[in-house]
Amino acid sequence: MLFEKFNLKNIELSNRLVMAPMTRSRSKNGIMTETNAEYYQQRASVGLVITEGTSISENSMGYLYVPGIYNAAQTESWKLVTKAVHAKGGKIFTQLWHVGRVSHISNQPNHFDPIAPSAILAKESTAWGIENGIEGRVQVSTPRAVFKAEIKEIIQAYVKAGLNAIEAGFDGIEIHGANGYLVDQFLNPDTNLRTDEYGGSIENRARFVLEVIDALSTAIGADKIGIRVSPYGTQHDMSVYDDITDMYHYLASEFSKRDIAYVHLHDQGTLYSEHFDFIENFRGWYTGNIIFAGFLTKELAEQLLEKNLIDLAAFGRPLISNPDLVERLKNNYPLNPGDRDTYYGFSSTGYIDYPNYNELSEEDKKALAESN
Ligand SMILES: Cc1cc2nc3c(=O)[nH]c(=O)nc-3n(C[C@H](O)[C@H](O)[C@H](O)COP(=O)(O)O)c2cc1C
Repeated sequence: MLFEKFNLKNIELSNRLVMAPMTRSRSKNGIMTETNAEYYQQRASVGLVITEGTSISENSMGYLYVPGIYNAAQTESWKLVTKAVHAKGGKIFTQLWHVGRVSHISNQPNHFDPIAPSAILAKESTAWGIENGIEGRVQVSTPRAVFKAEIKEIIQAYVKAGLNAIEAGFDGIEIHGANGYLVDQFLNPDTNLRTDEYGGSIENRARFVLEVIDALSTAIGADKIGIRVSPYGTQHDMSVYDDITDMYHYLASEFSKRDIAYVHLHDQGTLYSEHFDFIENFRGWYTGNIIFAGFLTKELAEQLLEKNLIDLAAFGRPLISNPDLVERLKNNYPLNPGDRDTYYGFSSTGYIDYPNYNELSEEDKKALAESN
């Protein structure tokens, strides 16, 4: 089933493989280049490409050198990427990202404190910033609680970014609601201690993300909106809270009502192994399309599709080192291992230099097969 066409609302995908969003930190001033376009084009044979997390505003950034989509120059630069992917028959969504508290003052305008639902430090969390003049991994800063009036401004920033994305030629956008960033911080009662209508009950904690979806739907259409979530994920100092199942049950029904393009479940490592019933339950609660990501193999992806638990299978790391992943999985060719040292950073090594299988010499093919 993996290689069959799929209709994602109004968008025809050539297969059910998705490129998971992956930060590669290779953009200056949030601007995309021909090199970035080549990277995405090399991977455009998947049914749907989702770009790396992309900043929606100046204060949404937690890492140096990630792209943005909040000003005209950034928006214009993304046209290189969307054109390159479309030229290969691919489809592409961009991931709209606000990191909330997972940031450092050096990444914030005027070195202000990052904003979050509440002023709670992510103790076990680092960002990529500048400390004492040196660039590198830094402990995130303590955030300040966002004022209620500012929440409307953040929602407007999502809308602007969504409109810019359509202007840049994207087929749609994915709201980053996973991995302990701003949306996730609102959902979780341990990071959201607000006493206004954005904190407290499940309905209140979910209000922010649903308002983001509603505002974006009005601006660009619900069929162009996906959302990524990571239930039970603990990345960036997040907890598994008491009413987590009820929260996702509620979100699933609200997402269904809004008739968006998809929900993207990101398994940080326990969803499939320890919470398989969650996947089954979520399928029952949510009536739309489900993308699943996290440690997938061809076999696992096929199983989840055959059992009708998911609609699309997203791959992350395998696509960094195998631009032709679709062909490799189709033909059971061996996969090229990735190099973690070049996941992030400016070098083109480990970015656009991974070969397709059919470009390898017979000798290299043999060596790869033996190493697998
Ligand atoms: C280098 C790297 C960068 C990532 N950046 C993002 C990101 O910007 N947004 C996001 O939602 N997930 C991000 N992820 C998570 C991936 O989208 C994916 O869910 C994860 O790698 C698990 O899938 P895999 O086992 O197929 O790699 C990143 C993962 C990697 C390895």
